Amino acid sequence: RLSSTKEILINAEKGGYAVGAFNVYNMEGVKAVVSAAEQECSPAILQVHPGAFKQGGVTLVACCISAAEQASVPITVHFDHGTSKQELLESLELGFDSVMVDGSHLPFKDNISYTKHISNLAHLRDMLVEAELGRLSGTEDDLTVKDYEAKLTDINQAEEFIVETGIDALAVCIGNVHGKYPASGPNLKLDLLKDLYALSLKKRVFLVLHGASGLSKELVKGCIERGVRKFNVNTEVRKAYMESLSSPKGDLVHVMASTIEAMKAVVAEKMHLFGSAGKA
Ligand code: G3H
Ligand code: 13P
Ligand code: ZN
Ligand code: NA
Repeated sequence: RLSSTKEILINAEKGGYAVGAFNVYNMEGVKAVVSAAEQECSPAILQVHPGAFKQGGVTLVACCISAAEQASVPITVHFDHGTSKQELLESLELGFDSVMVDGSHLPFKDNISYTKHISNLAHLRDMLVEAELGRLSGTEDDLTVKDYEAKLTDINQAEEFIVETGIDALAVCIGNVHGKYPASGPNLKLDLLKDLYALSLKKRVFLVLHGASGLSKELVKGCIERGVRKFNVNTEVRKAYMESLSSPKGDLVHVMASTIEAMKAVVAEKMHLFGSAGKA
């Protein structure tokens, strides 16, 4: 069923688990996430990145909403990484239930005013608003943020940011990166996350962790214990899709089916890791 991101995250907070938000690019991706969710009795968030929206447009969004409506478990549809005001304004009219206002490339005060502006408009439409403080390193689609620009979330700025913008969910930068982690492995600042969680409980916002591809079981557990309720997953699902295409078997429909199976296996595994399996 088509649920709300707020309801899904409230239940995750009550239950002490997290929910996966999976980037989707085509119908096969949508089917993979929804059928994994049904198989695992898990809630899930389908998210559309501006890069995916450029390709799929309203057809992709409609596919997500329709699949959610037909699902036997709670599913919502989220707009990921709104870095441009134009894209965000458009996204508010398309049926997304929640939106990420990504002003993380802006100086602190500009990030506040940008986020606050969109947050007010989104709230008029009853949407949940996520925003990022700090800056992630790594590459995601056409968003490239150099490692040297990477900045951790400043705990001292976080309270002002939450209060001033009125956001519902905070995407934290604690050393998480989009795409692959370096060979040395992820270096997450779990103490910072613990402090951010205490603040988030006081200010009643949910914590979100981007760049969840490549995190070990132990790190995911550590993040959930310290309040992460939404994990964004993209790279590992895309990788499964691309690998299944590298030795295609059969005709079009067989290839489509095998890409769905490949992505579904990754998504189902994440649902177990995040603790959302069995919670729908
Ligand atoms: O390290 C680079 C990643 O493979 C990029 O993948 O575009 O899914 O984040 P992404
Ligand atoms: P990964 O590509 O590292 O899974 O990150 C996904 C993400 O943060 C989408 O917003
Ligand atoms: Zn992200
Ligand atoms: Na990652």
